[in-house]
Amino acid sequence: MADRKTAIVTGGSRGIGREVALRLADLGYDIAIVYIGDENEAKETVADCEKKGVKAKSYICNVASFEDTKATVAEIRKDFENIFALVNNAGITRDGLIAFMKEEDWDSVLSVNLKGAFNMIRHTAGLFIRNKGGRIVNISSVSGLMGNAGQANYSASKAGVVGLTKATARELAPKGITCNAVAPGFIRTDMTKNITEDNSELLRTIPLGKMGEVSDVAAAVVFLLSSPYITGEVLRVDGGIAM
Ligand code: NAI
Repeated sequence: MADRKTAIVTGGSRGIGREVALRLADLGYDIAIVYIGDENEAKETVADCEKKGVKAKSYICNVASFEDTKATVAEIRKDFENIFALVNNAGITRDGLIAFMKEEDWDSVLSVNLKGAFNMIRHTAGLFIRNKGGRIVNISSVSGLMGNAGQANYSASKAGVVGLTKATARELAPKGITCNAVAPGFIRTDMTKNITEDNSELLRTIPLGKMGEVSDVAAAVVFLLSSPYITGEVLRVDGGIAM
């Protein structure tokens, strides 16, 4: 069908990315999931998207690798039509105090969270330009807006994502392509499984007084993907933390 649209969701096997994939499948998007790690989680997400009547497929690919992402985007282009949306959601944390942070923990977080988003944009931008349209949403974090003690690597990577988003937005705007970011606060996923609402001082800093759900972030991604006149925006989904 000529009007079918495909969305690539990195880190779409679980957590926030999985919810984004499911909500986009609800809207009729075909879904290409790029992930690393648990194959069963990816298979489950693909099957759940397919149940909604769309085409879905998962690709194991380390977003930190320029060559792997290039090959994976080429594969996705063979498998799917009309790639219209890219959601750069894959991310990791390797927390530690800066005075003790291992070089490899700095490098890996910057490579996955920031270079990963660059790699995916780099290999899809030409396609969006040729198609005269497209939408990119990058998942940043309130850590990137405010800084977070113990997360110098993560905060730097997510602040970098904001700069990447704005530069990309300016560069691709004349081609009708939008690029925005979502900055979540504390969202209930595997990444935050050590934070519980009753014991954490951290949670007292949330004006709305509770953690967010993956559905809260997915709703913001869907909104930005459906908004042709919003670009270069950073939309916080954080219960008010960074206002
Ligand atoms: P998660 O740990 O549940 O899922 C991470 C996903 O990224 C998985 O699908 C995994 O396969 C993928 N991934 C990790 N490294 C990869 C690599 N090198 N190549 C390809 N895929 C890779 O994480 P969660 O909580 O769903 O987070 C998703 C995004 O949201 C991340 O970018 C995270 O930094 C961001 N975020 C999460 C918050 C939270 O409270 N959970 C708060 C703010 C931002």
